[in-house]
Amino acid sequence: MNDALLAAAKLLAAAGIDSARLDARLLFQNTLGDSAAFDAAIARRAGRESVAAITGHKEFWSMDFEVGPGVLIPRPDTETLIEQALVLYPDRNAPLRIADLGTGSGAILLAALTEFPNATGIGFESSPQAHGYAARNAARHVAGRADIRLADWDAATGPFDLVFSNPPYIPAAEIDALQPEVRNHEPHAALDGGADGLEAYRSLARLLPSILAPGGHALLEIGAGQAPAMELLFPGLELGRIAPDLAGIPRCIVLKARNSLGNQGAIR
Ligand SMILES: C[S@@+](CC[C@H](N)C(=O)[O-])C[C@H]1O[C@@H](n2cnc3c(N)ncnc32)[C@H](O)[C@@H]1O
Repeated sequence: MNDALLAAAKLLAAAGIDSARLDARLLFQNTLGDSAAFDAAIARRAGRESVAAITGHKEFWSMDFEVGPGVLIPRPDTETLIEQALVLYPDRNAPLRIADLGTGSGAILLAALTEFPNATGIGFESSPQAHGYAARNAARHVAGRADIRLADWDAATGPFDLVFSNPPYIPAAEIDALQPEVRNHEPHAALDGGADGLEAYRSLARLLPSILAPGGHALLEIGAGQAPAMELLFPGLELGRIAPDLAGIPRCIVLKARNSLGNQGAIR
């Protein structure tokens, strides 16, 4: 490690960052030898912005997403939703109609559209800043196949074969205990799930039965420990498996619309 890197790593360690050396290296590489840019990046990291927010890039499903202030940085756990979509719909050529409710950077929707090349999708996002990231990411990754709307998800009408959502699910009182990178630098509208963390799921429970096509599926991300609460939250849909993430934490609930004949076939 050269002197500048060593000094930066020490500064980051003093700011309480466990991955100080790695982060210093990543920011060094990202600033391409421009020492003023490197110093500015280190100062932001010492102020506990994440490396992704500073570099403006985050990988999700092996795709590069533009991220930054005002949008949730996509998490690896969320890839569980894409894995489940591939299990439910093994035919990659299916012309699925997809929605992503609270699309943020567009990570889920755009990863899904990349996996299903004949699908089309709509992303709903109520934050203007986040909407801007999603629109730019969509133009880059799936030009013409994603409609990124600055709208509350209640504006969705469907019908959709597949609906994704990673809604805000942190109980309001727990936000202050999150890492500074999250609580101070990520939008609270992306985190705050109300008093018990379940407010967004109640909203989705009211909406989903009216926008899913008969037999369609909704894949929703949930927080650690929220699986038991899901049992009673979706009376209008069939709750199927709850898939774990790579750490074994129940992370993705699979909901299925009843078909138009009211035939409640076994969930896949
Ligand atoms: C946890 S973030 C998920 C972002 C992205 N889908 C991801 O997984 O990285 C939730 C997103 O939902 C948006 N959101 C919250 N309530 C919404 C609503 N009622 N209508 C539309 N978007 C909403 C937030 O602004 C935020 O971008």
